Amino acid sequence: MTPNHPIGKDLLSAADLSAPDLIDVMARSRRLAVTDGQSGAASNSRKIVANLFFQRSTRTKLGFEVAALRLGHRSIDAYDPERNRVGSSNGDSFPDHIRTIAQLADLLVIRHSEELKCHEVARLAPVPVINGGNGSDEHPTQALIDLFCMLEMKGSMDKLSLAISCDSRARYAYSLLLLLKHMPPRRLTFCVDPETQFSEKTQIALDHLADLGTQVGIVHDIEECLDHDVLNIQTQDLTSKVKSTLENGDLPSYAEKEPFVLTADKILKARSDAIILNPLPRQGELDSSCDTLPNARYFEQVKLSTYVRMAVLERMLAGIPWTGTGALARA
Ligand code: CP
Repeated sequence: MTPNHPIGKDLLSAADLSAPDLIDVMARSRRLAVTDGQSGAASNSRKIVANLFFQRSTRTKLGFEVAALRLGHRSIDAYDPERNRVGSSNGDSFPDHIRTIAQLADLLVIRHSEELKCHEVARLAPVPVINGGNGSDEHPTQALIDLFCMLEMKGSMDKLSLAISCDSRARYAYSLLLLLKHMPPRRLTFCVDPETQFSEKTQIALDHLADLGTQVGIVHDIEECLDHDVLNIQTQDLTSKVKSTLENGDLPSYAEKEPFVLTADKILKARSDAIILNPLPRQGELDSSCDTLPNARYFEQVKLSTYVRMAVLERMLAGIPWTGTGALARA
């Protein structure tokens, strides 16, 4: 049964954003970028953001901590298996842990290997919940960051050619495709390993973009993406990436296949001026020889991520609901 929480309180999927919601987040991010994160928030309205990271993270976890601090709020680490009672034989069950934290904090950010856990948390918690990555399903805030970077670095989406090179089941890429329906690029090329089974939901999202007028293509070699304005690249090996995050261990050794490895030589040979984005951490897909080229924008992407996370927190802590189809479907 769905509890009587406010409709649209949570950001669990990129589908939770309507077009006006997306425009609002991009405008808030822009304002915060212009002021380098000076929000003007009053210190007497400090809120508590609770991070529940059941999987490893650098950017998302620290990013939300920094975003909360820069807004004048505070964050707490609400999942610490060494010290919290959650999961221990004489401690709290998962639901009781969430119910407890939701009484202590004003907003929860959760990353969990199980796709449905963030939905369970959203039902248990009366406060807003952000999905910081749920298994291989979605990573909506990473997608917002990628979209904001493209707008900041290239101006607008309607004339832009975008190539995405990654495993077609990558969660951030699927979330990005869902956002792009509100701001369709002129051209979108998906660079994928032909041996990987294409996910059905990704195919549906690509078909939707094609219906909206985007020139959609599929290629199997990164060199066919170097004439694009933006190349958003991640490993093609989601299987071992997911496996390692499920187990919270190191990545099993995997050699990225040569057609999917971006090197400075390939960029220079193509005389490419594509900007390179990567959600990071990188595996073998992005050679460090690219790092000194002007194309490399992935660490600037981390810088810009703060403003997007601030914009999302600012909006959600003010109680402004998401009005996209995903949010309304959960009502
Ligand atoms: N891009 C991203 O989600 O990075 P983390 O796994 O470090 O949070």
